[in-house]
Amino acid sequence: MKAFITGITGQDGYYLSKHLLESGFEVHGTIRRSSSFNTSRIDGLIAEFGKSDQLKLYYSDLLDSSSLNNLINNIEPDQIYNLAAQSHVAVSFKNPLYTTQTSTVGPLTLLEAVKNSKKEIKYYQASSSEMYGGIDSSVLSETSVFNPKSPYAVGKVFAHEMTKVYRESYDLFCVNGILFNHESPARGETFVTRKITRAVGRIFHGIQKNLTLGNLEAKRDWGFAGDYVKGMKLMLEHDHPDDWVLATGETHTVQEFVEAAFGEVGLNWKDHVLTSDKYHRPNEVEHLLGDPSKAKKLLKWKPELDFKGLVKVMVESDIELAEQESVLISKKLMKPTWEYPITD
Ligand code: NAP
Ligand code: GDD
Repeated sequence: MKAFITGITGQDGYYLSKHLLESGFEVHGTIRRSSSFNTSRIDGLIAEFGKSDQLKLYYSDLLDSSSLNNLINNIEPDQIYNLAAQSHVAVSFKNPLYTTQTSTVGPLTLLEAVKNSKKEIKYYQASSSEMYGGIDSSVLSETSVFNPKSPYAVGKVFAHEMTKVYRESYDLFCVNGILFNHESPARGETFVTRKITRAVGRIFHGIQKNLTLGNLEAKRDWGFAGDYVKGMKLMLEHDHPDDWVLATGETHTVQEFVEAAFGEVGLNWKDHVLTSDKYHRPNEVEHLLGDPSKAKKLLKWKPELDFKGLVKVMVESDIELAEQESVLISKKLMKPTWEYPITD
């Protein structure tokens, strides 16, 4: 089996490609050319699977339709996972055009390629719980109404609906995975959970003092990315294409995540956490809680790691990382900072 993955260098790209490679798949992934290396998450996989060509990487971009078409024509994959996106909601307010261009032109290019291919290709679109807008405390399922509140979410609704249009119009195996927030030690450092656990690790080792956050009241249904990528594969293995919610069915405030993370190392979060309007969004998604019963029943999928377990795994990993940083600082190879990361 051959899988083609856009966004392979991201959090989900890492966990999904690892899962597929270990299941015997040949994995083809697109990376972006950048002036510094951007493959750190998948370097271990490149070392393990690159030599035998079980893992192959190609330069491309969601806005470069011709390179995507050429790659799909040449590789003839069995499956496409479209994970690439400008995935930061706050950044989408600052870069709305770029964010929505990538999440509309990119998926449409891939869907056209699937439609025009002589081979039957199964397509996975990374849809998001952000599409619901979180306007009240209801439990959200595949049939709940979308109320997008950011440029990011509007772009995701477009891709979601277009995936359905291609599925229904051309009888293609195109699925939407409506995933609620999922995190891990490989999470980008400007998303709130990782920002918190990075700070806890660094504060614990005495190389950071404070952590400044925005809205502590927002609620999210947080799961573990390693569990969610297994659901993506199961969706493409199901007997018919559909839309699927992956979630834990539990929601927590940002403050609860903060308390749990500082609690892991015996620190009182109130001694370190500040808030600033800088991290508030022009329009906030206040409450997200998903109902994964359809995926549980029909895909036999279930999240393995619970909220406490997720916080623990992330804090432990970031304590180790901060320990390595403190060695570099003691050798004057790195400078301590007041706060890290400094944006979003
Ligand atoms: P991520 O860590 O931010 O990874 C995004 C990936 O997309 C990276 O590989 C990035 O490349 C790539 N990318 C960004 N812009 C691109 C472009 N113009 N062309 C090609 N590649 C581009 O995101 P993630 O957490 O793994 O999420 C994966 C997907 O699921 C995203 O579409 C996200 O919107 C969606 N999603 C995520 C969650 C969640 O909680 N994690 C929930 C629901 C949906 P670089 O490494 O070069 O930046
Ligand atoms: N990033 C960030 N930084 N968020 C903060 C901060 C902060 O300093 N302080 C509070 N928050 C709040 C945000 O306002 C939001 O309500 C919540 O923490 C979660 O923010 P993020 O971790 O940035 O994630 P997100 O929920 O906006 O988006 C993530 O999940 C979506 C699925 O629901 C991303 O992964 C999206 O790509 C994904 O679609």
